[in-house]
Amino acid sequence: MQITAVEGLGAEITDVDIKSLSDAEFAAIEDAFAEHGVIFFRDQDTTETDHIAFAERFGDINVNRFFAAHPDYPQIALVAKEPDQKDNIGGGWHTDHSYDHEPALGSVLVARELPESGGDTMFASMYKAYESLPDDLKARIAGRSAIHSGKHIFGEGPDSYYKTSDVGEHDEGTGRIGNADVAATLVDPEHPIVITHPLSGKKALYVNPAFTREIVGISKEESEELLSDLYTHVFTGHDFHHRFKWEPGSIAMWDNRSTWHWALNDYQGQRRIMHRITIEGCALDA
Ligand SMILES: [Fe+2]
Repeated sequence: MQITAVEGLGAEITDVDIKSLSDAEFAAIEDAFAEHGVIFFRDQDTTETDHIAFAERFGDINVNRFFAAHPDYPQIALVAKEPDQKDNIGGGWHTDHSYDHEPALGSVLVARELPESGGDTMFASMYKAYESLPDDLKARIAGRSAIHSGKHIFGEGPDSYYKTSDVGEHDEGTGRIGNADVAATLVDPEHPIVITHPLSGKKALYVNPAFTREIVGISKEESEELLSDLYTHVFTGHDFHHRFKWEPGSIAMWDNRSTWHWALNDYQGQRRIMHRITIEGCALDA
């Protein structure tokens, strides 16, 4: 087994079969995951049960409340788009589950059906985003926290992504995202803006454009300006981005605490079916 860092962030793990990992190989994979934030595998021949078994080595599986599930395996969430569907799931920079009090550790995404072209996933390192923040921005966020929410994405509000895109379970929707009434019942958590990563001990920037709503203790205007400055730093931080091209047999596993990702929606008229398993995480401290 070989672990090779790739451009921007992440590591590719080669000469390995995720179905038959020794304890030593698995320990090295866990270390690479904590260190690099995202790990990539190629040419893996896996069934759904292999996918579940691999994910379970990292921790308990989080059964997704909003995504349509695999018909036979509720642990697997479907991240799907059919040729006649317009909108995709995850089509903007974000990290999964920051709207939870104990955000998910990470997600393991397996490519099942790919478009002929397009459908790459972008990743960004929140370790490197924090390290490279200018001192004045570091000072502005020092000791602060922010409120996160999933309601405006998954809820039934008139402007939510659930309502305004074709992914929701409504008139023109495709039912790829459902359970909108549950979104309204979530209690929005507050997380530190800079976290100490629970596995690596490194500092990471922990806000994201999809789910972070407001910085606590400053005015709404100041909060919007500060979040915008932080996001601009990440959007333009091309040296800590990686663009992953999926191939049949590809698997990516990302850390939701130290990375962002963005599923590009540039394959209209083509089918793309991915299987996602998400692993439970823990509360995050500064
Ligand atoms: Fe995502």
